[in-house]
Amino acid sequence: MNVMIINGPNLNMLGKREPTIYGSQSFDEFLDLLKEQYSDINISYFQSNVEGELINTIQETGFISDGIILNAGAYTHTSIAIADAIRSINCPVIEVHISNVHRREEYRHHSYLSPACQGVILGFGMDSYRLALEALIHIYKQKDSNEC
Ligand code: DQA
Repeated sequence: MNVMIINGPNLNMLGKREPTIYGSQSFDEFLDLLKEQYSDINISYFQSNVEGELINTIQETGFISDGIILNAGAYTHTSIAIADAIRSINCPVIEVHISNVHRREEYRHHSYLSPACQGVILGFGMDSYRLALEALIHIYKQKDSNEC
């Protein structure tokens, strides 16, 4: 199973950035542990602060991956272009947020991406990514058993 994790703007700063909201672990540290825990899954990772690069990666991986875990950061609340990219591909996309955006500023309450995604997981810290991976594994197994 091939899963792509895509992180958007400022998520390269995890560990340093607003630790009271996002914690003190860097994404690389977290990813190493996740890969260890799910060693039977091929997990790829891409991060960019540039909207177009996120769209390119969604387009490039959306037909060859079994699922995408997407934290688009603040583009979640602004980007119709990323929502369109999600609608253009054929693998399931799970929208993820580290923080519970609904407990935060009102401008974070709306997501352009949620209606285009298979599901949304938010508010569980870095564990949101693992929970999204579990969701993708579940979808993958269901698809597999339907094909038999
Ligand atoms: C975030 C929430 C967004 O509102 C914010 O702009 C981020 C991170 C999260 O993971 O909690 O950059 O996506």
